[in-house]
Formats: sequence, C-alpha cells, structure tokens
Amino acid sequence: MTVSLYDRLGGYDAIATFAKNLIEQAQVDQRLGRFWAHRSEDRNDRDLQLLIDYLVRETGGQMYYTGRDMALAHAGMGIDEADWTRFLELVAQVAGELGVSAPEDGEVMAFLDRLKKDIVTVG
Ligand code: HEM
Repeated sequence: MTVSLYDRLGGYDAIATFAKNLIEQAQVDQRLGRFWAHRSEDRNDRDLQLLIDYLVRETGGQMYYTGRDMALAHAGMGIDEADWTRFLELVAQVAGELGVSAPEDGEVMAFLDRLKKDIVTVG
C-alpha cells in the first residue's frame, strides 16, 4: 500500500506547524512581507487555516478546502520570480527546521513547481 505524502509528512499537526511557521516567516520577510501588509490578525488566521486545509487536501489527507484556486487567490498580487525564489528558500528553511527528510522534501518542491505558473504572474 502506498503511504500518502500527508502521512509521511506527519499528518495534520505536522502540516499545520509547517504552514504556520512558513507564513510567520513570510509575513516578516523583507522581500515578501509586503504581500501581507495592513491585514488584520483575523484575516491572517483565516488565510492560515485555508493554507492548512489546502495542503492537507493536496497531500492526500481528509480535509475539505473551501478557498479559491491558486490562480484566483494570487491574481493581481504581482508575485515575481524573485518573490518565488525567496518563498522557496523559506519553504526549505522551515522544512529543514522541522526535519522533513529528502524524499518528502523533493515531493514538496515538485508540488510547488507545478503551482508556480498559477502564482507567479510577473517577470
Ligand atoms: C511567493 C509566493 C506566495 C505569496 C507571496 C503568497 C501570498 C498570499 C497572500 C497575500 C494571500 C492572501 C490573499 C487574500 O486574502 O486575498 C494568499 C492566499 C493563499 N495562498 Fe498564497 N502566496 C504564495 C504562494 C502560495 C503557495 C505556493 C501556496 C500553496 C502551496 C499558496 C496557498 C494559498 C492559499 C491556500 C491561500 C488562500 C486562498 C483563499 O483565500 O481562498 N500560496 N497567498
């Protein structure tokens, strides 16, 4: 039987911790912070939960995602190549801190690469 990426990453709590740490880092990042400027705490909490739901669903867990698709969610933000590169650095950093091992890390990066065309709309 194939074990889902969701289970291999450690299930809900591991994914929630990953998402929370990643967003916290992105929000205070010199380059990426501008995307979350002037947003309420409640709005950020809601977006974090949407990110968790999305990641759980996409990795094979049982979660109903009620948010928008990636193209719609990021349209008009002007996310460029350098933003994307920085985002991937933060993903690698947070995954490293949580001890995500190489095969899973590779799968996460491949998953992100498939989303890139929907999210990076500039440059
Ligand atoms: C440079 C990369 C990225 C930046 C700067 C970014 C920024 C943002 C911001 C500011 C929002 C809030 C949008 C709003 O409330 O209108 C958002 C929503 C969201 N993002 Fe990203 N994002 C990035 C990459 C990603 C990636 C790679 C994923 C998935 C793995 C993702 C998943 C989501 C989800 C699920 C939402 C919520 C959608 C909804 O509100 O319906 N984002 N993103």
